[in-house]
Amino acid sequence: MQIVPSPNVIGAKIQGVDLAQPLSDAQFQQVEAAFNKHAIICFPKQRLSEPQMISFARRFGDVEKIFLKHYAHPHYPEIMYVSNIKENGNDIGHADAGRVWHTDMSYTARPPRATMLYALEIPIDNGKVLGDTLFSSAADAHDALPFETQMRIANLRAIHQVAGRRARTGTGQQDQALRKEQPAVVHPVVRTHPHTGRKCLYVSKGECEGIEGMPKDEALALIDELADHIIDPRFHHTHRWQLHDLLMWDNCTVQHLASLDYQWPQHRRLMHRITVDGTVPV
Ligand code: OGA
Ligand code: MN
Repeated sequence: MQIVPSPNVIGAKIQGVDLAQPLSDAQFQQVEAAFNKHAIICFPKQRLSEPQMISFARRFGDVEKIFLKHYAHPHYPEIMYVSNIKENGNDIGHADAGRVWHTDMSYTARPPRATMLYALEIPIDNGKVLGDTLFSSAADAHDALPFETQMRIANLRAIHQVAGRRARTGTGQQDQALRKEQPAVVHPVVRTHPHTGRKCLYVSKGECEGIEGMPKDEALALIDELADHIIDPRFHHTHRWQLHDLLMWDNCTVQHLASLDYQWPQHRRLMHRITVDGTVPV
């Protein structure tokens, strides 16, 4: 097994491992250590059936049930489709996952430790791959803050709401239904990573609607300032997809953004997605 770190503050690829086969405990420990260290791991050229992907995901913790049930795989409820493909006029999967910078499901009480995407179809236009996924390190962003700011925000807690301040077009009713199912939750603005112990900023403009005990306008200004800081290019890593990449990221250490630069029906993109190991942020 070969771990190749990216030149950025986050990201690595792991070669020489076949995830379709069960990993030994020693192999898995190497993978997990690399995942904790680099926060985004790409395993190129994997050929994974649904059960094989689920088995690999289980090594990291409990596989979660899908929140957006209508996008679940019909035979494997652990897998969600992230896709722009339409069948009979309907989206088969989540077509605009990651439109704004976020960390997955921060609006739930136990957001997933990791998200995995397995690339089954990749949009290509004139030889150029579209649909990059961008990442930014909320851990390095925290470390780069002035000490006074770190002290000022250390014990704050933010309110996260599904489809919070996110600009949405024409789906008001859908958002209301989601909110009914998933009431707002409160999480620390600075999380301590459960495996590395690093401090990570944990706010996003899309989901965070306020800070406990702080006037709303002051809270939103602080959230926006921190959220803008998290996505400073010096903390970035971009993933350019290749067919059969299995990519996984750490939802405490990084935030991410989809570049929705491809279009149905000229371009097709299909990912199998699994989230694992929900934990209460502390
Ligand atoms: C996600 C997500 C981004 C992408 O699946 O959570 O944000 O590029 N995806 O598909
Ligand atoms: Mn996401």
